[in-house]
Amino acid sequence: MLRLGVNIDHVATLRQARRTAYPSLVEAAALCEKAGAHGITIHLREDRRHIQDADVYALRRSLTTRMNLEMANNPDIVAVALKVMPDEVCLVPERREELTTEGGLDVAGQRGELAPVVDVLRQAGISVSLFIDPELRQVEAAAAIGAPYIELHTGAYAERTRSERELELGRLIAAARRAHELGLKVNAGHGLSLDNIGPILKIPHLDTLNIGHSIVCHALFVGLEQAVRDMLGKIRS
Ligand code: PXP
Repeated sequence: MLRLGVNIDHVATLRQARRTAYPSLVEAAALCEKAGAHGITIHLREDRRHIQDADVYALRRSLTTRMNLEMANNPDIVAVALKVMPDEVCLVPERREELTTEGGLDVAGQRGELAPVVDVLRQAGISVSLFIDPELRQVEAAAAIGAPYIELHTGAYAERTRSERELELGRLIAAARRAHELGLKVNAGHGLSLDNIGPILKIPHLDTLNIGHSIVCHALFVGLEQAVRDMLGKIRS
């Protein structure tokens, strides 16, 4: 069964816009879980633009599903992860000036830096995923350094017009097939919405889709619980 991880970063974005105490992330996560989300994803960015350290600890206490912590390979954030002990860590590249995670990790070019972190997190009992573009050499490098999961970056697919998506979809399918052959589990995410998710369901061997921005935006009109239910409905259709 394909699972949905709901990324609630942008509930925190709304709070941080005014530095208020609301909206509550704990309450938001609980609504997502009530609606059937299989896990909650949060990205603790180095600049703390949305999720704060206190959110990570509060959610660790409150979640009844899995916590997936997205983070850069940065010693301070790795230390937080080892304290919080999320169920999963997804290592992502991070640039301060970017609006959102723009590309995948260059695992092939950074094996030396990434392998020890994957090892430390796994030794601690945390499942590790590497967020990569759908390129075979990145999939192979992820397998070579012992990551159990990859998350395929669907951003390029999401940005294409409907007629241009086939090429990107083909790359995602090929990457998922190769990952499966190598024994990796496959997640995917970034830029997915009710409008563009349909073809993504053709990608074989998918474990979890991590979706945030479009769900939080849809929630403005229908409420968070319904927004999660609508996405789950699409995924199951
Ligand atoms: N997966 C990863 C690794 C991400 O960095 C993000 C964005 O934080 C997402 C999924 C969710 O992307 P979106 O908010 O565009 O649905």
